[in-house]
Amino acid sequence: MIIKVTRRVVVILLALGAFLGLGRKRSQAVPADDRLKRIEQWDRTHDRVWIGGEFWSNPMEDWRVQDGWVQCQTTAGNRSIHSVTRQLTDPGSPFVMSVELSQSAPIDNDGGAGFRIGVRSDLNEYRSNCFAKNGLNAGLVGNDLILGKARKPLKDKRANSHVLLTLQGKTQENTCLLTLTARDATNGKEVGLVQQSVPLDTLKGNIALVSHYQGTQRRVATPGYRFRNWKIGGTAITHRPKQTFGPLLWTMYSLSDSRGKDGFVLKLTALTGPLGKDDNQEVELQVKRLDEWVTLGKAKLDREAWTATFRIANWNEKEATPYRVIYEQSFKEGDPIADHWHGSIRSNPMGRPLRLAALTCQNDYAFPYEPVANNVVKMDPDMIYFSGDQLYEGHGGFGIIRDPADPAILNYLRKFYQFGWSFRESMRNAPTICIPDDHDVFQGNIWGEAGAAMKDQDKGASSKGGYREPARMVNVVHMTNCSHHPDFYDPQPVEQDISVYFGDMVYGGVSFAILGDRQWKSGPERVETGSGRADHVRDKDFDTSVLDKPGLVLLGERQEAFLKAWSKDWRGHTMKVLLSQTVFAGVATHHGNFNGYLKADLDSGAWPQTARNRAIEIIRESMALHINGDQHLASICQYGVAKQRDSNWSFCTPAIGAGYPRWWRPDEVGMPHQNRPQHGHAHTGEYLDGFGNKVYVYATGNPEVATKGPRYERAHQKGSGFGFVTIDTEKRIYTLDAFRFNVDPTDGNLNNQFPGWPITLGQAENNGQNRVV
Ligand SMILES: [Fe+2]
Repeated sequence: MIIKVTRRVVVILLALGAFLGLGRKRSQAVPADDRLKRIEQWDRTHDRVWIGGEFWSNPMEDWRVQDGWVQCQTTAGNRSIHSVTRQLTDPGSPFVMSVELSQSAPIDNDGGAGFRIGVRSDLNEYRSNCFAKNGLNAGLVGNDLILGKARKPLKDKRANSHVLLTLQGKTQENTCLLTLTARDATNGKEVGLVQQSVPLDTLKGNIALVSHYQGTQRRVATPGYRFRNWKIGGTAITHRPKQTFGPLLWTMYSLSDSRGKDGFVLKLTALTGPLGKDDNQEVELQVKRLDEWVTLGKAKLDREAWTATFRIANWNEKEATPYRVIYEQSFKEGDPIADHWHGSIRSNPMGRPLRLAALTCQNDYAFPYEPVANNVVKMDPDMIYFSGDQLYEGHGGFGIIRDPADPAILNYLRKFYQFGWSFRESMRNAPTICIPDDHDVFQGNIWGEAGAAMKDQDKGASSKGGYREPARMVNVVHMTNCSHHPDFYDPQPVEQDISVYFGDMVYGGVSFAILGDRQWKSGPERVETGSGRADHVRDKDFDTSVLDKPGLVLLGERQEAFLKAWSKDWRGHTMKVLLSQTVFAGVATHHGNFNGYLKADLDSGAWPQTARNRAIEIIRESMALHINGDQHLASICQYGVAKQRDSNWSFCTPAIGAGYPRWWRPDEVGMPHQNRPQHGHAHTGEYLDGFGNKVYVYATGNPEVATKGPRYERAHQKGSGFGFVTIDTEKRIYTLDAFRFNVDPTDGNLNNQFPGWPITLGQAENNGQNRVV
């Protein structure tokens, strides 16, 4: 780093040194290595959205690096920048931090700006702390210095609120004496000082800069505050460089047997934050061979999705291969800095079972889902599958931007980044299939209507056919989720030039079909549910057979054609799995709250019935196990078409963090059943679902009503967790586990799983040659 030592800097450093006790002979002198250290390099960073890997900006779309400052783009309230690598962990030790702030243009409704410290979630974990709504403010509001509850006017008014703020903490018995000083940023002269003692414990947590402590929720287009020269020192603060998040955020890869001239094909996508036009636009992929790093290629970043994708044909799948991606970050001046992200491309699992972690639905009240994320790492799966809802619209706060496409994309990306932030440790070492669902495109339900734009957008984003969001944003969703998937089967885009992603991956002797089971689906406005809500049937006596009208679509002709070909194609594998978003049956009787009875939900794959039956008729001969998610209610069931139990089995996995709750309690609402499984659990057996579809429900993971506050206990209560499927191609069996949220899946405790799990299914049970009783 280059620091220009000007007279001004010397004055400021001397002034700050006095605060730390430097140069004094007093006993409270701070060791030399605790001196203020600049923690950013915005002065030499190219103008751009993404402010650097040491920080998380709240929300990302409202900040820019601009002319050497970080500039908030709005005067809306509580826009913040958190350090992700430095937390205040030891409030009994001294600390000091300073920052220069100003208004780039006069602000009418000045909500103030400065530091916020002691920001922490119920976990006091650095990622979750970024979204906590507490903390102690220490800054400038109008002409007053504020420090917690203390407030004191400056000696004279500062033009554009341009000051150098310094916050110092010193322990005094069981409290910390905080001193906030404002100085003239040009000559270092003190212009104000305020002090306050606070309990030590209030200081623990993240440290942040805030533009507009107070302000409207609505995003106003007037620029807010800007900051530069953020410096930190003192032993109260722990520095953990490993927590840096970017510029390489994470990678995802797939490995698939093309069964053609390309042999096994590795596809890998690296993601960076949104960079500037003057930043380096290339990412490099290297692998380690004979202890040497060998470059396999460079890939250009897509300037909307900020993904760089590599495709390497004729991959040696027999050996595990260490890889790393390199991004060389350039600056306006000075040396570039290379960032690395590394992992391992696993060998193709042969001669042993393939172990798949299957996950869905991460509601950010449980962010960063450490019990699940850590358990996936611990289980060391051969492959990972995310079946959708990698985010919800409310993720990270600060609302949805739906239009126009540019800010909508940034609004999407920072929500998606929370997914990678949580699961990147597992994804670096295993092939990952990741498909988007409704919430990923900012819709509560998606009925894709072959890519059509939604009409009557004002009536909500969930009860009408078509896509609500600009096609460019939808395509960014597809790129960020699926660009590393094996080549798509039939990549022709749909309406509005929206991309498609169906196809297959052949790995470990198993073929995985990957579908977008809602991309062509008909909208609910094509039928009348009689409930006032287009997608829900509430009346128990409503005849749902009238909802099955000719011409209604579930998978669409192109995906049906793919599935027909896939079901007959047994090259290079002996077992099959179908991966899609949701279950082809209505396995929920109560929605939203414990007594929220619902006869039928058109958003499931149970509707339209004829198209549902046709899809199952196609996949029956594949003997595929269907693995899906979406429901926030784990289930194992077997589909029936002409008769009960004549078709494939489905495993709907538990949600990573279940939000909206669902229950399957058919016995309580008098739904008749036959042939209850031998285990005798309530609510199991052969049923007709709310649409009249035949379904044999073998097990469900009904949630409790949530009462607990701490996020991980709450997620556990709500039936969260993850699925695990072991596919044994020698024995031709699938073993299904559904682990609860807050358990150790390796300790053998029988209560780790939901009632009815684990279960082992033979391959041929997926075409009705039943053994399970
Ligand atoms: Fe969901």
